[in-house]
Amino acid sequence: MGRVKSAIPGLDELIEGGYIENDVILITGGPGAGKTTFGIQYLVGGAVNFNEPGVLVVMEETPSRLIRDSWRFGWDIEKLVVQKKIRIIYANPFKYTRFVKTQESSTVSIIAANKNTGDIFKQIQAEVEAIKAKRLFVDSITSLKLSSDNPEEIRQVVSEFIKNLEYLDCTTLMTSEIYGRESFSVEEYLSSGVIRLHVFRVGGGRVRAIEILKMRGVKHDDTLHPYEIQEKGILVHSTETVMNDEISIFETAGAR
Ligand SMILES: Nc1ncnc2c1ncn2[C@@H]1O[C@H](COP(=O)(O)OP(=O)(O)OP(=O)(O)O)[C@@H](O)[C@H]1O
Ligand SMILES: [Mg+2]
Repeated sequence: MGRVKSAIPGLDELIEGGYIENDVILITGGPGAGKTTFGIQYLVGGAVNFNEPGVLVVMEETPSRLIRDSWRFGWDIEKLVVQKKIRIIYANPFKYTRFVKTQESSTVSIIAANKNTGDIFKQIQAEVEAIKAKRLFVDSITSLKLSSDNPEEIRQVVSEFIKNLEYLDCTTLMTSEIYGRESFSVEEYLSSGVIRLHVFRVGGGRVRAIEILKMRGVKHDDTLHPYEIQEKGILVHSTETVMNDEISIFETAGAR
């Protein structure tokens, strides 16, 4: 079984060398935990270090903001788009559409997706095939949940989307948010792997800790390890652990 490098220093050793090829892996965490950075690092790292093209699906922020924020870490997404190593799809989330600026100021080509989940998937599939992408990053699937007020319908939409992603010939990372101490979400059950980014309050400061919640078919580590967001991106301290009796900022924030 092939393995796909995470491009996050310190992470691959916790999961027997990398993600299992073609799996769908979920990255969850509270606001500002580093979910987007985690996924962009995966795409850029793949394109630059392993010559593996990637597709980026932006559902939450705007692509230009994401490109701008990536500059901070020295990641030149625009150059990678020009080199055809990365393609960007901008899929406006359903209910936000009328509030979101539709004009993109980015200089690189951005593919605008339709609003319908099935159409978004077809577009993803087309772009993945067009550049023979080995990596896909969807940020974030939380917006799919805004498509309906009916929990059953939401479950259906999310589950269909994830199942479709499983058929693609590429390894997918996707993000979703966690609010308060809610029970496990549908995407956590359906994904092959779940990585959680915790932010704990320790004294006056914060400690970031990463946890491999599950990784099907992998003998993965199950302790909490500190991670940092540094100048060059995310770094996991795989030989250090974090005591989980510290209080998580987001897990004590109260349910939504
Ligand atoms: N150069 C840097 N050095 C250290 N930390 C940084 C740097 N740049 C960003 N950060 C941290 O990264 C966080 C944002 O990361 P990111 O956008 O990946 O999080 P996220 O989980 O996607 O957030 P959201 O829930 O808003 O989508 C910031 O809150 C900041 O703390
Ligand atoms: Mg984000």
